[in-house]
Amino acid sequence: MNIIVTGGAGFIGANFVYYELEKHPEDRIICLDALTYAGNLETLEEAMKNPNFRFVKGDIADRDFVYNLFKEEHPDIVVNFAAESHVDRSIENPEIFLKTNIMGTQVLMDACRKYGIKRYHQVSTDEVYGDLPLDRPDLFFTEETPIHTSSPYSSSKAGADLLVLAYYRTFKLPVSITRCSNNYGPYHFPEKLIPLMISRALADEPLPVYGKGENVRDWLYVKDHCSAIDLVMRKGRVGEVYNVGGHNERTNLEVVKTILAQLGKPESLITYVTDRPGHDMRYAIDPTKIHTELGWLPETKFDDGIKATIEWYLENESWWKNILSGDYQNYFQKMYVDKGRA
Ligand code: NAD
Ligand code: DAU
Repeated sequence: MNIIVTGGAGFIGANFVYYELEKHPEDRIICLDALTYAGNLETLEEAMKNPNFRFVKGDIADRDFVYNLFKEEHPDIVVNFAAESHVDRSIENPEIFLKTNIMGTQVLMDACRKYGIKRYHQVSTDEVYGDLPLDRPDLFFTEETPIHTSSPYSSSKAGADLLVLAYYRTFKLPVSITRCSNNYGPYHFPEKLIPLMISRALADEPLPVYGKGENVRDWLYVKDHCSAIDLVMRKGRVGEVYNVGGHNERTNLEVVKTILAQLGKPESLITYVTDRPGHDMRYAIDPTKIHTELGWLPETKFDDGIKATIEWYLENESWWKNILSGDYQNYFQKMYVDKGRA
């Protein structure tokens, strides 16, 4: 099969590219990525050596470009990771979130309609459900929980989800959606909580915890998210939404303290800073549907996953130090354009 993976130079998309190349070596992966600040071609260096992998630089919202790629590649499956993904950036500047996350999704689905497709899979988020109160640990997000967003980011993802379901109902486009909780693991961009805290703790810099640090996230090791998407896009029912998460709830403060303890750094590095506007209190997924229908369960417990993640950041310092120094932004130009490879 030919599979277009959009956003494959980002955190989860890149982990998914490697997951697919290993699990389904018979399939061909075409990665379409605009290489925004969050896309890093260095991450895909190993994949580039595989003859069943192709990287294409382009914007999912660029209709002519996307149509030409579909005409050339005839994809069987399109899985859409490409997005502006950082809540704090969406509070600073919402516009690009609407353009990429909603309009980009529309362009991809129009291309699917025009050229034919077996499956369009949308990678969505539990943030579309809003948040849960801290004093009701009995409550979880199910697929029936109403959409109730808080940030421009989550609103743009919810808008895209509604459009995907509308294309199923109106045009019979074979779609599916996964809504996942917070991921962590290798190649996580160091603006997000876990890699930000690891990199700052290693430099003995203050760790900025929003508010009181009592907000709760349901952490999922990225490989477990990849296995869920792989199952849903191949075997999940068309027109359905599947929640993905694994009962690994932690407060932000617990996460930060775990990182400090593992790195042997003092808790005095923790600095409480002004809270994020509209900050969601608690996310918690009920994964019953994907478990009962498809047999999916997460394999990695938080305590093991966080250890592996910290070790990865220690062993791959140059990857995140390049990002922090901005060097990676010259990487595509230097390694591909200047050498006539793209
Ligand atoms: P990321 O920010 O690390 O990567 C996004 C990738 O998309 C980058 O490579 C970027 O260059 C690319 N991109 C952005 N705009 C593009 C455009 N217009 N055209 C083509 N490519 C473009 O994001 P991530 O954390 O890997 O998240 C991937 C997807 O998973 C997103 O859709 C996000 O909403 C969703 N998600 C993320 C999490 C999480 O915890 N990170 C959890 C649930 C769902
Ligand atoms: O739940 C899924 C979502 O998880 C995805 O849809 C998003 O793309 C992804 O970015 C993530 O969103 P969050 O806002 O939960 O992730 P972030 O890493 O930005 O923040 C996690 C928690 O840590 C949140 O409660 C805010 C807090 N935080 C974050 C940063 C960056 C801090 O306290 N300090 C910080 O500096």
